Amino acid sequence: MTHKGFTLWFTGLSGAGKSTVTDILEARLRQGGAKVEVLDGDVVRTNLSKGLGFSKEDRDTNIRRIGFVSEMLSRNGVIAIAAAISPYRVVRDEIRAKIDNFVEVYAYCPLDTLVERDVKGLYKKALAGEIKEFTGVSDPYEEPLSPEVQFDSSQETAEESAEKIWAKLVELQLLSSDG
Ligand code: ADX
Repeated sequence: MTHKGFTLWFTGLSGAGKSTVTDILEARLRQGGAKVEVLDGDVVRTNLSKGLGFSKEDRDTNIRRIGFVSEMLSRNGVIAIAAAISPYRVVRDEIRAKIDNFVEVYAYCPLDTLVERDVKGLYKKALAGEIKEFTGVSDPYEEPLSPEVQFDSSQETAEESAEKIWAKLVELQLLSSDG
């Protein structure tokens, strides 16, 4: 497999499938010998963004940090996969403008399904008012207007979503399966 440096930028609500689909793609890329690094919001918040909360200002700082590292990686031929809610369109577009090969993936799932699944138990708390400023419940999420790829995790499996993204990367000539 050969590849260019690029940034695969996931955006979407908590629980919509960003990390799950990222895991599949990361494994498949590594298997093919690709250079790949993942910047997951939950992980970044334990180190690079430790101490930041969920105000608009802190989220923007978190996202700009992830964008900064993604740009450095992809400029050096590495595949950077960013998986954070990144709720604000203007900041995502600011990062897009700074990165040569930027591929935005909208991880969508209807809110009622997210609340039903509630893998981390956070939606229940947010709906009860125990967590303030929770994205999609009591804090804004601005959908991307023209993402390169989108998937609906209530309608397709994570493998199908990963396959769709893979096909788009091949189409954009960022990945090629030969060699
Ligand atoms: S972002 O808004 O700055 O992009 P990020 O992806 O890093 O968010 O972190 C989101 C994760 O933090 C969620 O998946 C969830 O586990 C946790 N979290 C805790 N509080 C909140 C909140 N108020 N809003 C959204 N996510 C929260």
